[in-house]
Amino acid sequence: MKAIAVTDQAAGTAGMKLVERSEPRPSINDVVVQVHASGFVNTELGWPSTWTDRLNRDRTPSIPGHELAGVVTALGYGTTGLSVGQRVFGLTDWSRDGTLAEYAAVEARNLAPLPGDVDFTVGASLPISGLTAWQGLIVHGRLQAGQRVIAHGAAGAVGSMVTQLAREFGGYVIGTGRAADRQKALDFGANEFVDLDKEPLEDVGQVDLVFDLIGGDIGKRSARLVRAGGILVSIVGPSETRPADGLAIDFVVESDRAQLGEIVQRVRDGRLRTNIGTVSPLDDAVAAFNPTERRPGKTIIRVRS
Ligand SMILES: NC(=O)c1ccc[n+]([C@@H]2O[C@H](COP(=O)([O-])OP(=O)(O)OC[C@H]3O[C@@H](n4cnc5c(N)ncnc54)[C@H](OP(=O)(O)O)[C@@H]3O)[C@@H](O)[C@H]2O)c1
Repeated sequence: MKAIAVTDQAAGTAGMKLVERSEPRPSINDVVVQVHASGFVNTELGWPSTWTDRLNRDRTPSIPGHELAGVVTALGYGTTGLSVGQRVFGLTDWSRDGTLAEYAAVEARNLAPLPGDVDFTVGASLPISGLTAWQGLIVHGRLQAGQRVIAHGAAGAVGSMVTQLAREFGGYVIGTGRAADRQKALDFGANEFVDLDKEPLEDVGQVDLVFDLIGGDIGKRSARLVRAGGILVSIVGPSETRPADGLAIDFVVESDRAQLGEIVQRVRDGRLRTNIGTVSPLDDAVAAFNPTERRPGKTIIRVRS
């Protein structure tokens, strides 16, 4: 099968190569999915799990990409709940070969059925951004109606989902980002927008929940805005500053079939819009992940047309 492989961490996305690999075989409780569309997060090549397995052994050449939408072609021993021929989407294990390939082996529990009226490209754009937003706001952030929420990077892949879900659940959303993204963030539902390059974040006053995906100085300054009892959730490594009287929660997204179902249902009924910027075939994936100019929105690789 065709796949994108990486061997050299220092080379970053420029080191991605289109290669020929043998098709994966399903282990216990796995399915093999014929990948129709695949998602990749730009920072993935900086994660240790891209390069080593759970025992910290080198696993290169590894196949990146951990989001997929496709069709089940084989079941491993003992696999229940999914069947051959079923359309699925979901998030794959960080420490195994991923989804920038024609086939991927995945634990069945990490996948959910993809309804027939949802395109594979849309399905592949949802798992990481949708689940991260859901878990950060609802599971870890315990969002309640009426709360004031900072959604950093509100025009980005995760931030646009955070903005939409926070509004749906009754939050007042202060989106942030760069000046060029103001209108996009407002279109996704932000009540107001802060241009982090030019406007002082501190002017927004106290908030109940910060969803941090930038970190560094922005993370520290955000923590100071969390009012007593509020929560800072961070997806970019351990927060350097805790809110004075609030809670800081650092988490890595996990797959969850029920939450994937909640997310895809919202896409079907129009409550959630995806944020897809570029769609490229697998043959052009290396160029798509090494753009010469800024490409807003998520890049999805359409593996089968
Ligand atoms: N822990 C987890 O489970 C988890 C899950 C998903 C994602 N993540 C991480 O979350 C981060 C965001 O992911 P994503 O897929 O949403 O990325 P993305 O689509 O690139 O969105 C990030 C947005 O934030 C903006 N931004 C970043 N730094 C900024 C700054 N200093 N000032 C103003 N705007 C800034 C970006 O603008 P520019 O493009 O102009 O910089 C972009 O619009 C990544 O670091 C990713 O690795 C973690």
